[in-house]
Amino acid sequence: MGTQAAPATSEIAAVGVIGAGQMGSGIAQLAAVAGCGVFLLDSDPAALSRAAASISSSLGRLVSNLAWSQVACDDSVKRIKCVSDVEELRGVDLVIEAIVESEDVKKKLFVELDRITKPSAILASNTSSISITRLASATSRPSQVIGMHFFNPPPIMKLVEIIRGADTSEEIFSRVKSFSERIGKTVICSQDYPGFIVNRILMPMINEAFWALYTGVATKEDIDTGMKLGTNHPMGPLQLADFIGLDVCLSVLRVLHNGLGDNKYSPCPLLVQYVDAGRLGKKRGLGVYSYGRSSSSVKP
Ligand code: NAI
Repeated sequence: MGTQAAPATSEIAAVGVIGAGQMGSGIAQLAAVAGCGVFLLDSDPAALSRAAASISSSLGRLVSNLAWSQVACDDSVKRIKCVSDVEELRGVDLVIEAIVESEDVKKKLFVELDRITKPSAILASNTSSISITRLASATSRPSQVIGMHFFNPPPIMKLVEIIRGADTSEEIFSRVKSFSERIGKTVICSQDYPGFIVNRILMPMINEAFWALYTGVATKEDIDTGMKLGTNHPMGPLQLADFIGLDVCLSVLRVLHNGLGDNKYSPCPLLVQYVDAGRLGKKRGLGVYSYGRSSSSVKP
């Protein structure tokens, strides 16, 4: 990792990012650009290679646009170390978890992080919907566990939704808020309810768009054009679902349905079928729309 001026004592200097997928790679980039040493971890070596390539190309675009110098770009890339062993995260000040949206899998990871990381480390989750209080209960430091919900793609989207668990301390909240602002984000704060603020409101709209498609109200193109031009959204809900990942949308709807107990959150069967078929959205080349890299086993 490259050299950087020593940060103030309470400032976050070293960050672990777990999950090098769509979200984790962008979060690692943001932290590195802000001058942090970053350990980017994934259980899948191919995901780490893809993340390294996508970070280099994303930062390279800034150099081509003359928004940034080649030296600053190279220094940021050097600050990111791709790792596959969680023990490497021993010395970090903050861990941001961005693995699969499954409570059981995340809890197992939090147990491990609690054992490995230094006692002062903050453990944050980028979960889209899962209870921070329940993730925190898997650790011996619930006051240092917090939700840090970025939006896709993290380097572009300006928002971070911070979620306080039942025991998150004021000090941890303000340190995470300062860190989020340091990496250029606007912060909103949510209590720990299923889906928090944004997904509580967004996912029912995406689900309704699937119901409209499933029941033959209109074509996918007309549903998306209707919502783009009729409500001034930058993209339609079906295209947005593809960008988020249909697996992520389904997991979030299931959390909303289980947690809030209202049938209006029950996932549309068409969304379930697409996920069962491996049509996970843009990241797999095929979701509601095709992105030119579709798997041969599934037909649009
Ligand atoms: P993704 O599928 O692109 O990436 C997940 C990565 O985690 C994969 O590379 C996978 O190999 C890795 N992984 C899974 N289990 C692991 C484990 N136990 N240890 C280490 N690595 C593991 O998923 P994406 O879209 O990046 O989402 C990740 C998290 O971020 C989820 O919790 C999701 O709900 C949340 N999120 C997603 C947003 C989106 O628009 N896709 C927006 C905001 C939050």
